[in-house]
Amino acid sequence: MTERVIAAIDQGTTSTRCLLFNRSGRMVAVAQREHRQYYPRPGWVEHDAEEIWRNVTRVVPAALQQAGLHPENIAALGIANQRETTLVWDRRTGTPLARAITWQDTRTDGIVVQLAGDGQAPLFAEISGLAPATYFAGPRLRWLLDSLPGAREGAEAGDVLFGTMESWLIWRLTGGPDGGRHVTDVTNASRTMLMDIRSLEWSPDLVEVLGVPHRMLPEIRPNAEVYGTATTVLPGVPVAGALGDQHAALVGQTCFAPGEAKCTYGTGAFLLMNTGPRIAESTHGLIPTVGYLLGDAPVYALEGSIAMTGSLVQWFRDALGMISTAAQIETLAGTVPDNGGCYIVPAFSGLYAPRWHPEARGVMVGLTSYINRGHLARAVLEATGWQTREVVDAMNADSGLPVTRLKVDGGMTANHLLMQFVADVLGVPVERLLGSEAVSLGAAYAAGLAVGYWADLEVLRGNWHRAAAWEPAMDAELRRAEHENWGRAVNRSYGWARP
Ligand code: G3P
Repeated sequence: MTERVIAAIDQGTTSTRCLLFNRSGRMVAVAQREHRQYYPRPGWVEHDAEEIWRNVTRVVPAALQQAGLHPENIAALGIANQRETTLVWDRRTGTPLARAITWQDTRTDGIVVQLAGDGQAPLFAEISGLAPATYFAGPRLRWLLDSLPGAREGAEAGDVLFGTMESWLIWRLTGGPDGGRHVTDVTNASRTMLMDIRSLEWSPDLVEVLGVPHRMLPEIRPNAEVYGTATTVLPGVPVAGALGDQHAALVGQTCFAPGEAKCTYGTGAFLLMNTGPRIAESTHGLIPTVGYLLGDAPVYALEGSIAMTGSLVQWFRDALGMISTAAQIETLAGTVPDNGGCYIVPAFSGLYAPRWHPEARGVMVGLTSYINRGHLARAVLEATGWQTREVVDAMNADSGLPVTRLKVDGGMTANHLLMQFVADVLGVPVERLLGSEAVSLGAAYAAGLAVGYWADLEVLRGNWHRAAAWEPAMDAELRRAEHENWGRAVNRSYGWARP
């Protein structure tokens, strides 16, 4: 008899993928489709949720076909998704009212400034754990309600629904207008600025301050639970797990003990450390967040979010045309021994953790006639290393649990030069998960736990295997000098985008 597998959908910022995993956590198939990025104005970034749904309907059958499997061979489906990307849709027609506003979009800066001016920032920080920022979903929802004709009235009448991408996909998968389940999970909800991080429910106070009709909000559920049965795409299969992608990676990397940390290198990079049952306070620019809810009680995490890492490589490829594939950046960077004195600070959407400067914009400094494409390639990669270092420094200062090794995953971890640089600037070993698909694996783990495919977290721990490791090798004095140069470069990016 064919072994049953777990399917995971990874609905990311640039693409949607379906991966199938067996009981040992090994990937047996993967299919992927990219979707279009819309940049209607500077600072605006949108996705077409219908296109994303169409991609789901294509990648799932493609993955099944690759493995020679059918829906009846799938024990459960889990979803991981780009977080904070905000969508409103019509419950009756199933159609989005507008394109989804993505997490990098900065159009809500006015709303955020106003919240701070009204003295509401401490309330948000106290209840949701989040200080108002354009990064989070709540202000985007407010913007949509204020800007789309009829949206607020529709929401008050119960006809317009809000959701992040997992919510949209679960609703469509479980029936859409014909009885689809309107839910979200605790981790995605924890990024809206609307959820009480202790009770794990929508906060009436925050919902009121942002002026959101309660009827449009999805029900908040744990990460591992049968939310419903798919009526389409994988008919008959339990939809049984959902997590924001970075929380999914924490689970996929089996960071189940306090102090364990992982960093996922995708469009951006996101470092999460398990803080156990404790909501860690940050005085160094990190975000307390729900790590996961897989049993009775939530496990919390401290997060350092970096807005641009892989997307800087993409910009280097697509906007500047310096390379034709992302992988070529390693070869190009390898043509020179160092950065030649050049630094790139990718504050394209402002600076996230730990500095949080929304008005910062990208800068390139240290240019001389000596600088060639190789140096620029190096500066692009080094920006990821230094941003990781800043987050790890903040994590060490905040948590009192120094990071002694860093588990990494995601597409950029295939880049050896970059991973060696990360180990060099952190001064601790960096270890890559076998397969490096922690996001999808975490979603699969949640769904598999919900249906008893895997018994418990200990079994999952046994599935973790190291594929590669990098030991720090940089001379300490060079590290200190380069760190200082990076800091000087970052200072140049401040205050560029004046409102
Ligand atoms: O917070 C945004 C994050 O969830 C996006 O992740 O992997 O799609 O860039 P990714």
